Amino acid sequence: MIHFDNITANYSSNLGIKDFSLRIEKGEMIFLIGSSGAGKSTILKCLYGDIQIQKGVITLEGLNISKLSERQIQKLRRKIGVIFQDYRLIEHRTVFDNIALPLRINKNSNKIVQQRTKEILQEIGIPHLSERFPSELSSGEQQCVSICRALVKKPLMILADEPTGNLDPQTSIEILKILDRISKQGITVLMSTHNHSLIEDTNKTIVYLKDGARILK
Ligand SMILES: Nc1ncnc2c1ncn2[C@@H]1O[C@H](COP(=O)(O)OP(=O)(O)O)[C@@H](O)[C@H]1O
Ligand SMILES: [Mg+2]
Repeated sequence: MIHFDNITANYSSNLGIKDFSLRIEKGEMIFLIGSSGAGKSTILKCLYGDIQIQKGVITLEGLNISKLSERQIQKLRRKIGVIFQDYRLIEHRTVFDNIALPLRINKNSNKIVQQRTKEILQEIGIPHLSERFPSELSSGEQQCVSICRALVKKPLMILADEPTGNLDPQTSIEILKILDRISKQGITVLMSTHNHSLIEDTNKTIVYLKDGARILK
């Protein structure tokens, strides 16, 4: 489904990633692991069209996404859900409104917005939090809301950049379980982490990174 073939992507002043290759199947969950600066976020940015690719090709379901126009990038982003370490919720909006936002931006009818948002709250197990504000939630609950917001538009894939970075070990495992469940529904999940112990028992593919390149364990 996703192929990185010898990708090099640099920032104006710095190397981002170098000669990076990876194949990801639909519905697969893959971990990117490495210490700070290893290139994890840069790989996710390549898929989100957030960084210029200097060398190599990335294809998503056969479509070359390494050279897209601004308009094509906007279209691509509608198919991708993103989750961050710091949740990025809108503080003055309720949980419901935070989750509904991508649907409203895409001009869905109010009926669809209500239906789909309730459905996703139910699926992730937080319908009781619907009318709260982000400041009234635990960190784990806030991350669940951000997962709902990523899922509500039925994406092809989820990019999760250190989603457990601010969470305690128990809550981190809960978030991993949710992401695993999502991938089993056919949504590809690419998750970065610097926390080896969190994934030491996983049976999923782990991609090890160092100084912008893929390394053997
Ligand atoms: N906005 C940026 N501008 C310049 N260099 C950057 C920027 N973001 C990351 N880098 C550099 O790119 C390399 C990879 O960083 P990154 O992908 O953010 O690593 P990680 O997510 O694994 O911590 C590092 O050398 C980092 O300093
Ligand atoms: Mg990072």
